[in-house]
Amino acid sequence: MSTPPRNSRISGFHRMSPRERLDTVAAFAGLDAAAVERLADTGNLDSGLADRLIENVVGTMNIPLGIATNMKVDGEDVLIPMATEESSVVAAVCNAARQCYDTGGFTSSLSGTLMIAQIQAVGVADPHAARLRILDRRDAIKAVCDGCDPILLGLGGGFRDVEVRVLETAGGTMLITHLIVDTRDAMGANAVNTMAEKLAPSIEEWTGGRVYLRILSNLADRRLARAHAVWQLDQIGGAAVRDGMIAAYQFAAADPYRAATHNKGIMNGISAVVLATGNDTRAVEAGAHAYAARNGSYGSLTRFEVTKEGHLSGSIELPMAVGLIGGATKLHPTAQTCLKILGVTSAERLARIIAAVGLAQNFSALKALATTGIQKGHMALHAQNIAMMAGAVGEEIERVAQKLVERGTVRIDVAQAVLGELRGA
Ligand code: MEV
Repeated sequence: MSTPPRNSRISGFHRMSPRERLDTVAAFAGLDAAAVERLADTGNLDSGLADRLIENVVGTMNIPLGIATNMKVDGEDVLIPMATEESSVVAAVCNAARQCYDTGGFTSSLSGTLMIAQIQAVGVADPHAARLRILDRRDAIKAVCDGCDPILLGLGGGFRDVEVRVLETAGGTMLITHLIVDTRDAMGANAVNTMAEKLAPSIEEWTGGRVYLRILSNLADRRLARAHAVWQLDQIGGAAVRDGMIAAYQFAAADPYRAATHNKGIMNGISAVVLATGNDTRAVEAGAHAYAARNGSYGSLTRFEVTKEGHLSGSIELPMAVGLIGGATKLHPTAQTCLKILGVTSAERLARIIAAVGLAQNFSALKALATTGIQKGHMALHAQNIAMMAGAVGEEIERVAQKLVERGTVRIDVAQAVLGELRGA
């Protein structure tokens, strides 16, 4: 007798408790008891809180949290919590930071804590005149925006400016209003979205057009985090290493295919800290990649140069929309602990540290790529993963991994054979 097809139309799923949902999913997917219990164990995040953070919660997904050492940012030593599933990412930051620690570490800055909200108006008969009508109402716009968030105002934030762009699109001319808002220690999405929604009826009235979208821009280019460091030649292994790294940077600066990978490495570091602090990884990633393409072709988020003394100078600049208040950052106990480890008390300091981590990550990737290649460093940990995938447990993991590295072939079939030999012995 054939089994009936599985039905994903589960009525009232969202009203169930996490445990009820989990049991429903287990029945649907045929999960065994061990898998169910693993999901039911939500670790360091209370299941009730998880259930409030997102919808339809059945459990949590734990990612390793590592600490990068050796970092000094603006003269202050700092330990960096990083949440990532990828091996070598934490080690990369430690190594880069160690090689510039004695010469001062990283210096950093932030251009401001301004976010942009966009209001899209279509069907405006006289877009250029309408643009001026909006700009003329700056005081009224400020009053509406600041009225939305007295707490933000009390913290010194709030409306800063209004800009209006006449945009030619496939659907005709559109009038795009930008609200520039200082969101201080908040990432600011909620604050600026509320302001944009509140202002939309007035924009319709002033322009005679129809407003559709009212939403922040993740291209947060009024919130640019910058970091810089100098690596001395004797610390990095000499002029040949430096020149290889500069050539690697130049490759990324000239070629979007390489730049995508180069920037992905940078985001390995950045997203790990953004996630560890409960911030929005996708917002930061979207901003970074859009910024990398701001000149019309996609390029590198970092720059590497030679100082007049012949040392390697590295710098990074990218949008960094992170906050300390609101959302998972405030509610997730691990995010709060990570902020405590970082010792940050402002979103600005957090953004600046994160930029330094991105630069450190990129330094290590370029150094490895321009010298021994990246596989050597990866292999030790990767070999352990492969050993576990082959079924190794306890001490077997290290022994199988070692043999794989010695043989220079880190593959699951080889790991299975090695494990068989070990167990047979
Ligand atoms: C791997 O996750 C990241 C790298 O590919 C970055 C790079 O190529 O610069 C190593």
